[in-house]
Amino acid sequence: MTKYLVTSALPYANGPLHFGHLAGAYLPADIFTRHQRQKGVEAKHISGSDEHGVAIMLGAQKEKVDYQTYVDRWHKEHKELFAQYQIDFDFFGRTTAQYHYEETTRWFTKLHQEGLIETKDSQQLYCQDCKNHLPDRFVEGTCYKCKSEGARGDECPHCGTWIEPEKLIDPKCKICGSAKIEEVTVNQYYLMLSKYHRPYREWLESNKGRWRKTVYPFVDSLSKEDLHDRAISRDLDWGIDVPLPEANGKKLYVWFDAPIGYVSNLKQHLEESGSSDHYIDDWWKNSDTRTVHFIGKDNIIFHALTFPVMAMGSGFITPPYDVPANQYLNLAGKQFSKSSGNYVDAREALDKYGVDALRYYLINIIPEVNDSSFTWEGFEARVNNELANNIGNLVNRCLKFLDKNWPEGLPAECFSGFVESKEGQQLQDEVREHLQFLDRVQLRKGIERVMAIGQLANNFFTECAPWGQIKEDQEAAGRSIAYTSQYILVIGILLAPYLPTLSQKIVGYFGERVDDSSRQDIYLGELLALKKIFSTDLKLTSKPKVLVPKVELS
Ligand code: MF3
Ligand code: ZN
Repeated sequence: MTKYLVTSALPYANGPLHFGHLAGAYLPADIFTRHQRQKGVEAKHISGSDEHGVAIMLGAQKEKVDYQTYVDRWHKEHKELFAQYQIDFDFFGRTTAQYHYEETTRWFTKLHQEGLIETKDSQQLYCQDCKNHLPDRFVEGTCYKCKSEGARGDECPHCGTWIEPEKLIDPKCKICGSAKIEEVTVNQYYLMLSKYHRPYREWLESNKGRWRKTVYPFVDSLSKEDLHDRAISRDLDWGIDVPLPEANGKKLYVWFDAPIGYVSNLKQHLEESGSSDHYIDDWWKNSDTRTVHFIGKDNIIFHALTFPVMAMGSGFITPPYDVPANQYLNLAGKQFSKSSGNYVDAREALDKYGVDALRYYLINIIPEVNDSSFTWEGFEARVNNELANNIGNLVNRCLKFLDKNWPEGLPAECFSGFVESKEGQQLQDEVREHLQFLDRVQLRKGIERVMAIGQLANNFFTECAPWGQIKEDQEAAGRSIAYTSQYILVIGILLAPYLPTLSQKIVGYFGERVDDSSRQDIYLGELLALKKIFSTDLKLTSKPKVLVPKVELS
């Protein structure tokens, strides 16, 4: 039986998470995991803090705290924020944990034995003023590809080029600001990607039909001709030691150890939860497992190229089944940036508007195909017009009407015939299509489909006009309410992966008649399950309340 190993990019323990992070990786991974579980498919969602690397060193240095204290704080903050946004993990670990050092060491040693790690001399930037080596983000300059400023020694955030630091135009030291940068020769360990070009290409091409159009062609063109070897060690004092005596305290590059975090965190999870599963045999290398990496587009190379080569080269794990990378989410058209004030505090927003409203809007703007933009006007409009009107109001009006006119319960006979009706058949088709969207990781299309079902339910309800019917034909009114209630239950069940709280509230009105197995049937588009659920008179378990408060921007 297929099972899913869902990962979301280990966030740097370095500063607050914003909506771009949530919509770019964590929310999609959470929805996808919940979706698989609703289907009855086993799935694990694994992530954790990425606690090494230059960005973190710079952050800690700026605040004058030691590195460990710094990452401890951000790790805790991130965990709390995820919990508030109902982004659930089976395990959210850390890369400074002992278990992660051990797993990383094992990988390095194996890749070294396999001849995929070698030392090479190379040119590196060095600051003559503060006398530091300047790898990665320790240096900034103008991108030699797109000519935009603010390119870092590892990557240009503007065009996504994987930067060769010696080529940066007008490089400056990020530690002291000096422009007195020279090139020195250093000996580093390299991941010999060039040796793996052929097997890598074979594997890559086998994913062609499945991967997103924003992912496959990008890696395809990047790797068509050849692969460049990449330095995976650094002369720094923060990171995991290169596990060789002659390495003399060199540390592993953060991008070597970070993705191994997916593996080490699963291992730790299984151990801590007392599972009898083996992390490799039962998960990472099991032929039933599909690994899906949720990431932002700046992480594509590492997940679709270097880590797969490490996976195949070590033989430790099977490379990923899918890498559904997202584009960028901007704030009102500009990059999220705390320092320049273009920023919304995700925690404050949550306190003000609640998790359903924020999740709803963020899901609708997941940058799946193109960059997208968060705006407060958009937030207000979508929550009020769609979630509150289309879903919240409908549920409220229909169930209140039921409660008021049939206080002893709506007779079971009223419910029959729905599944076979034109409406019921159409609903079943819609539910099945919804399923396919989520299977293909098209989450926006998925929630749009749920809202479209909400629209169908509204149309039905309005056309029947039970408030008029009840004056002449009690039974007809009863059937209208019973049919609408069935739409409502289906909507409540479909909302589960997106808005767990709202889903729970809606389904909760129907009480224990909705057991796990009929819930699963309905989710899978087997609407016959409605017959069993509504084989007895329906009396609500509680009085209908406002489900989705309207947003008022202050
Ligand atoms: N910390 C990286 C970032 O935020 C992502 C690391 S993903 C992993 O861009 F593969 F390394 F885990
Ligand atoms: Zn300097």
